Amino acid sequence: MNLRKATSIDDLRAMAERKVPRAFFQYGDHGSYAQRTLRANRDDLELLQLRQRIGIDVSSIDLATTIAGAPASMPLVLAPIGLCGMQHGDGEILAARAAQTAGIPFCLSTMSIASLEDVDAAVDKPFWFQLYVMRDRGFVRDMIARAKAAKVSTLMVTMDFNMLGQRHCDIKNGMTVPLKVTLANLVDVATKPAWVTSVLRGKRKTFGNLSGRVAGMANVNSLGVWVSKQFDPTLNWNDIAWIREQWGGPIVIKGVLDVQDAREAVKAGVTSIVVSNHGGRQLDAAPSTISVLPQIADAVGSEIEVLFDGGIRSGQDVLRALALGARSCLLGRAYIYGLGAAGQAGVTRAIEIIRGELVTSMGLTGTTSVNHVSKDIIIPRATAFRS
Ligand code: FNR
Repeated sequence: MNLRKATSIDDLRAMAERKVPRAFFQYGDHGSYAQRTLRANRDDLELLQLRQRIGIDVSSIDLATTIAGAPASMPLVLAPIGLCGMQHGDGEILAARAAQTAGIPFCLSTMSIASLEDVDAAVDKPFWFQLYVMRDRGFVRDMIARAKAAKVSTLMVTMDFNMLGQRHCDIKNGMTVPLKVTLANLVDVATKPAWVTSVLRGKRKTFGNLSGRVAGMANVNSLGVWVSKQFDPTLNWNDIAWIREQWGGPIVIKGVLDVQDAREAVKAGVTSIVVSNHGGRQLDAAPSTISVLPQIADAVGSEIEVLFDGGIRSGQDVLRALALGARSCLLGRAYIYGLGAAGQAGVTRAIEIIRGELVTSMGLTGTTSVNHVSKDIIIPRATAFRS
């Protein structure tokens, strides 16, 4: 299929599956363990029926909003994605450019292929940086200083990765950076020439933020071992106070699934939270994000900005989340499918698809501004019909 014929995120996913080596495609696509939480994110969103309204003037629909205090053209953020540059060479730079052209924030992961400095040099507007709190606090301090020196406007601290959830596919596929050399991987990569060219042309082939920054880690293999031992199980709210002091700007806490934790985030004085289960990649058997969003938004939505991710694959999904209390949504897989399918143009296509679906769905529900979406447009479960 050619990109112009891609009319849905599912189409982009199918294109990416053909273009990206299996190990990296499945790394992006799959969830942890039995993938129950991954499926629940989608299933529970799809259960929500929207209320069609007629006779309302919807000739002007306003998507503009603010996210973490800055204006955005619509309520979307490109989520941090580790190894984004393995879906397509220079993936982080291409996605950042697509986001900036669309007028929405791009968030770079600590575990990216392009470094903070690479992205900084490639874009002219501010971007977000996602911080993993490593055991090596000297490294964390250094990352925050590097973010300050770059055009980073907002620091996102991910708190649901203090232990590593297991994805079976990654073990079976020999998913390491660089990719483990097995016969199956060699045969598979040989059938993906466009991907090989893009990655060979890309500036880097390993973790750009870590390379050359970690003492004693001369080669990429030892870097991988260092990373796997660095996620810090001691991470707690005192660390957030320390990070706030170091950073001094807006902080977004990612990985909130519980009202009590949302209240802790309010106490910690951060700008925003993301209701997230890491896209079903961590605690399998955790609830879907859409099922916990209403209680979290009700509890803290008047005190802190509530962002949302997990399973967003359409504009209808964005509208569902806004209706249940999210101020904006993060796109994860939806945009990396576009990236794998066609680089920057594919990311732009993913954003356009979701934007178009959002506008149409707002119009058909009689909604004229993203800032005035309420629970009223959701048909209550008790009266919703399910065949
Ligand atoms: C992620 N996610 C993630 N989150 C984070 O804070 N830092 C990271 O490095 C990554 N890496 C990462 C890699 C891949 C391949 C995926 C799919 C996800 C989680 C991500 O930011 C977001 O929370 C989810 O992707 C949202 O769910 P959907 O939209 O993918 O269903």
